Amino acid sequence: MQKPIRIAPSILSADFAKLGEEVRAIDTAGADYIHIDVMDGHFVPNITIGPDVVKALRPHSDKVFDVHLMIDPVDPYIQAFADAGADIITAHIEAGQHTHRTLQAIRATGAKAGISLNPATPESSIDYLYEELDLILVMSVNPGFGGQSFIASQLRKIEAIRKRIDSLGLDIDLQVDGGVNPVTCIHVIEAGADVLVAGSATFKGGPSEYAANIKRLRG
Ligand code: DX5
Ligand code: ZN
Repeated sequence: MQKPIRIAPSILSADFAKLGEEVRAIDTAGADYIHIDVMDGHFVPNITIGPDVVKALRPHSDKVFDVHLMIDPVDPYIQAFADAGADIITAHIEAGQHTHRTLQAIRATGAKAGISLNPATPESSIDYLYEELDLILVMSVNPGFGGQSFIASQLRKIEAIRKRIDSLGLDIDLQVDGGVNPVTCIHVIEAGADVLVAGSATFKGGPSEYAANIKRLRG
C-alpha cells in the first residue's frame, strides 16, 4: 500500500560549508527524511562524503537519516555508516556480487535495508530480494550528480514495483531519486512512489524558501 508521501531532501544540493545548519533548516522546514548521498569516485564519477560527516551531522536532526550508498564495494563500509547514525542504508543492485548478503548485513546492524536500481536496470533484478527489503529506490537520473533531468521511462518501473509490493503485502518504502520537482512529483506519486528525494528542488532560493519548496513536492 502506498503510504503517506514523505519528502527526503538530498543534502548534495546544500551549502557544504555549513552542512549542520542546512540539516537543521530542512528539518524545521518539514523534511521527513534527510537523504545523504555517498559517492566514491569509482561506482559513480563523483566523490562526496563519508561516515565521519554523517556522524558529525547526527546531532543536528532527529529525522530519519537515509543514507544512499553509491559505492562499490559496499560491505566493508556498512558498519561504519550504521555506527555513524544511519537509520536506512541503501546499496545499489549494480554494486558488489552478493546483494542478498549485503542486505542481511545492513539489517544485522539494526538499520533498515534499501536497494537502489539505476535507470538501465530492470525491476526483475530485485525479484528475489523483497523479503530482505525495507526500501526500494528507483533512480530517475543516472547517479552521480544533482540537477539532472527526470528520466520519464522510470515511471513504468515505479508502477511495476508498486504492484509487486502491494501483491506481496510488504511494508516497503518506494522511493524515487533524481529530477524530482513540483511538476515531475505529480507523475511519480501517481505511479506509486511514497518517498520523494529532491536536491535542487528543495534547496532552490535559500533557507527562506525551504518550507515552501518541500510543501510543493507533496503533490
Ligand atoms: C544523484 C543523487 C540524488 C541527487 C538528486 O546521484 O542520488 O540524490 O542529489 O538531485 P536532484 O534532486 O537535484 O536531481
Ligand atoms: Zn540519492
